[in-house]
Amino acid sequence: MAHTLLPSHYRRFLLNERTMDKPISPNTYRAETVPFDSKPGPGQALVKVNYLSLDPGMVIWIRESRFTYTPPVPLGSVARASGLGTVIQAGEGSTFKPGDLVSGILGITEYAVLDDALLTKHELIPGAKPLDFLGPLGATCGLTAYFGIFEVAQVKPGETLVVSGAAGAVGSLACQFGKKAGCKVVGIAGTDAKCDYLKNELGIDVALNYKSPTFHDDFDRDVGFWDAYFDNVGGDITDFLTTRMNRFARVALCENSSSYSGILKNIMEFVVRSGRIQGFIVFDYVDKFDAAIKQISGWLEDGSLKSKYHIVDGLERLPEAFSLLFSGGNTGKL
Ligand SMILES: NC(=O)c1ccc[n+]([C@@H]2O[C@H](COP(=O)([O-])OP(=O)(O)OC[C@H]3O[C@@H](n4cnc5c(N)ncnc54)[C@H](OP(=O)(O)O)[C@@H]3O)[C@@H](O)[C@H]2O)c1
Repeated sequence: MAHTLLPSHYRRFLLNERTMDKPISPNTYRAETVPFDSKPGPGQALVKVNYLSLDPGMVIWIRESRFTYTPPVPLGSVARASGLGTVIQAGEGSTFKPGDLVSGILGITEYAVLDDALLTKHELIPGAKPLDFLGPLGATCGLTAYFGIFEVAQVKPGETLVVSGAAGAVGSLACQFGKKAGCKVVGIAGTDAKCDYLKNELGIDVALNYKSPTFHDDFDRDVGFWDAYFDNVGGDITDFLTTRMNRFARVALCENSSSYSGILKNIMEFVVRSGRIQGFIVFDYVDKFDAAIKQISGWLEDGSLKSKYHIVDGLERLPEAFSLLFSGGNTGKL
């Protein structure tokens, strides 16, 4: 029987400090190299981590805050992150076998032992690559965009949909789902290069740079009013947009608490325009995941859905990579 060569040591990152005033500090995570002694028990699998997904929502997992939907990571334990890996050993009675492609909350580590129930096995579909299980087919990326657009914003053909953080991982898919639903799609992003990408590569109708001094005038000239808004960022952009709502407009609030001040100005706009604002967590729709994955897989297979990845090589570069999420430095799913 062939044996996978296992290392004598492996690297991982522990949560070192609950950074509260900014997304990450040099002390948030602590790297360590430890002897490799991991063995899967009954009903468990040993996974080699190939890719980690860095999500702005990881900030919520670090903090003890009431703005959370899951218990925070205990200090001193392996930092939480979802990832994609390969099973290299299966414990007694495990449903997995060596070589299986799996995803789950693998943690910021090179190797992890996890219960079967915490892992999802993936079969490659035509048109998709393994990384797509963290991108268009991943819960915190494609599925978030899908449910935000179709279930929360409930977009209809002919409506004007605005997406903020539009060139980001979730936003770029939300824009494309909006086009598929027959909307006029308006993307808001922080550089002209990102706006060019949205218009010329993703084919959305209008892309506006919110850092331009003429942003508000540009919006009034090219858009006017909107029916649905997929909000990835909150803040000034959302405050401005709430003054440009059509009647019965809907907002899908997708953002994380680090970018959102928690204060929504112009709340009266929702009253006088009979508007609706709804927050959501992608896991609200777990029972609809399979149907969404089937639909998104079809779009990957027919080549009509585009996604971009920003890959930072090397576990030791975690702090640098994580910071990109909050400076707009990543171009594509990080
Ligand atoms: N509710 C859920 O279940 C759920 C699940 C997953 C993700 N999310 C949320 O979805 C959002 C997008 O995630 P993502 O993975 O797509 O992140 P991402 O790839 O980093 O994209 C977000 C983009 O938003 C822009 N941005 C960041 N801070 C901003 C600010 N203060 N004002 C204006 N624009 C800002 C940045 O680009 P620019 O250069 O354009 O500024 C950034 O690239 C995050 O808030 C995340 O927490 C929610």
